[in-house]
Amino acid sequence: MSRSPEAAPVAEHPHAWFDAARFGLFVHFGLYSIVARHEWSMTWERRSDEDYSRYAEFFEPDRFDARLIARTARQAGMRYAVLTTKHHEGFSLFDSALTDYSSVTACGRDLVREFVEAMRDEGLRVGFYHSLIDWHHPDFTIDELHPLRDRDDVAELNAARDFPRYRAHLHAQVRELLTNYGQVDYMFFDFTYPGDDGKGPQDWDSEGLLAMVRELQPTCLVNDRLGIPGDLVTPEQYQPAEPMRDEHDRPVRWEACHTTNGSWGYDRDNLEFKSPELLLRMLVDTVATGGNLLLNIGPDGRGGLRREDTEALAAIGEWMTLHHGSVQGAGPVDPALGVEAPPGAILTQKGARLFIHLATWPMRHLHVRGLAGKVRFARLLHDGSEVTHTTIDPQERGSHTTVRGIGEDVVTFSLPIRRPAVLLPVLEVRLDENGTAPPTGPGSADTTAIDIQE
Ligand code: GLC
Repeated sequence: MSRSPEAAPVAEHPHAWFDAARFGLFVHFGLYSIVARHEWSMTWERRSDEDYSRYAEFFEPDRFDARLIARTARQAGMRYAVLTTKHHEGFSLFDSALTDYSSVTACGRDLVREFVEAMRDEGLRVGFYHSLIDWHHPDFTIDELHPLRDRDDVAELNAARDFPRYRAHLHAQVRELLTNYGQVDYMFFDFTYPGDDGKGPQDWDSEGLLAMVRELQPTCLVNDRLGIPGDLVTPEQYQPAEPMRDEHDRPVRWEACHTTNGSWGYDRDNLEFKSPELLLRMLVDTVATGGNLLLNIGPDGRGGLRREDTEALAAIGEWMTLHHGSVQGAGPVDPALGVEAPPGAILTQKGARLFIHLATWPMRHLHVRGLAGKVRFARLLHDGSEVTHTTIDPQERGSHTTVRGIGEDVVTFSLPIRRPAVLLPVLEVRLDENGTAPPTGPGSADTTAIDIQE
């Protein structure tokens, strides 16, 4: 088939995959997985490096199976995954010429390489989390977050620390990550806390780091935690109430990151797990407000996946098998459509398809304002079964068995009494091309009265 020059495909924006993906996996793994009391335990417990670094002797991740993690992520409907290459504790999960404090020295494994290969084989995009903070490095000056912050001799200790040397180490490790592992799709730096006793972009030389990523991996997304603008913003453990905007009121790309139980690293005794229903609603809510969800798991001290995490991901995956259409490639509803979300419903849209996620199941009738004359067809997404709909004349008076008293511009859908046995039922509405022409085609029952005895 010959193509006219006009029809030549427009090159997709290099970050389009991220915007369509909507759902990714975060993996926090390190020595803190052995401590099993949160990845910040080193500093919460004011542990010295001599004391803490001994965990490296006991690092035996025999159950860390990157292929299993990749499969688990893909089956959950995730399209990318982000691994901690080094967390604040300073232990690297990759082969680094700059340190012996790594998984390679501890157990002979480059876990980052295993991860990258496994993700690629499952068709997932690859992201690296890399901590700017480093509580192990001898030149990282003691600040308000550092484990040694309460010591009496902080000033003396700091006098012996050469922060520019740490900065060079940080840059060199980032260079290794961007050079030795093929294509990196996403760099998640973490984090900047400016102030007298903190660290700001000038400390890390954030501009230099960003320039390095742009040079070595031109299509790689970079987050905002270098303290300078990147490609996206990263709300942590809260859900934005509406599409996010920058300080100039322009829309920004965003990704909410969330834990399953409040801790990123394995935290044995923390059982505050969010239910699969809640996690799924958070995902849909994220799509409805134009963001991505990066959902975390914290493998245990042997690298094994926590049962609660795999069960939640499996439940979400089962739902995604039938409903990924309302999430992947979807986004917030176009305000021009003028549709109002009914109580307890979360709306997403993809082109001429509107998805109504029903967190509460109504008794037979779902009334949606703003849709009159715009609906061509509606179905339950999980089984494709038609859902009939009607627009009731607001002037008409009802009887004791007919639904009336409906306001202007409302479409009423007739749902089955029994809630479908899926985690979150979805009504898919096919909109008229221009959203205004009178409905046609199967299922349009625009003038039919709904009788509750029908
Ligand atoms: C934070 C925490 C950290 C976690 C991260 C995930 O900044 O310091 O422990 O890795 O956020 O977003």
